[in-house]
Amino acid sequence: MQFFLDTAEIQVIRDLAATGLVDGVTTNPTLIAKSGRAIRDVIAEICELVEGPISAEVTALEAEAMIREGEYLAKIAPNVAVKVPLTWDGLKATRALAAQGLKVNVTLCFSAAQALLAAKAGAAFISPFIGRLDDHGADGMELIREIRAIYDNYGFATNILAASVRTSAHVRDAAIAGADCATLPPAVFQGLVKHPLTDRGLEQFMSDWAKTGQSIL
Ligand code: E4P
Repeated sequence: MQFFLDTAEIQVIRDLAATGLVDGVTTNPTLIAKSGRAIRDVIAEICELVEGPISAEVTALEAEAMIREGEYLAKIAPNVAVKVPLTWDGLKATRALAAQGLKVNVTLCFSAAQALLAAKAGAAFISPFIGRLDDHGADGMELIREIRAIYDNYGFATNILAASVRTSAHVRDAAIAGADCATLPPAVFQGLVKHPLTDRGLEQFMSDWAKTGQSIL
């Protein structure tokens, strides 16, 4: 499973990319707004920090304008993936941008039928929003399972990018369900390594080792 960071905070991305385990980054208009910076500058800097796909979202609502924005964003760096919303206009834009060889991440996916449309339109990524579905009283993980089954039935190459991830359990369950990637808020990414028994076990090992008086080097 590939791990993307769901943030536009440069320093955080720099720190976490140093783990060597960050495969890409996703942004959206809310995250760009939180950064307080110009989208072009933020995306350009992220693209230099992380080699994998960096999602930059269009903000136009009509297909022709989305295509123009997508082309502009894609010119920022070769690893930009243009993010478009799951609307008819977004699907038209997906088709046109994918035909140009650009990677498109279709976002705000809340149903398997929507995911099927995105794959048919040529999306490189589909972003089902797990957490927001759970908040809505639905089962976000069930959506991942449904999309996996549909894409496998028809051999679609579109990557399932689990989004709106809130917990380590979401990451585990999305991996079990066969999501290709998950985009994680920095705190969720950092939390993946944590287990109280790891801390307790390490403490015990260190204490027992100290009693031997040895050093390996
Ligand atoms: C994904 O591309 C979205 O930016 C993100 O995962 C949305 O997450 P949220 O529901 O926590 O805002």
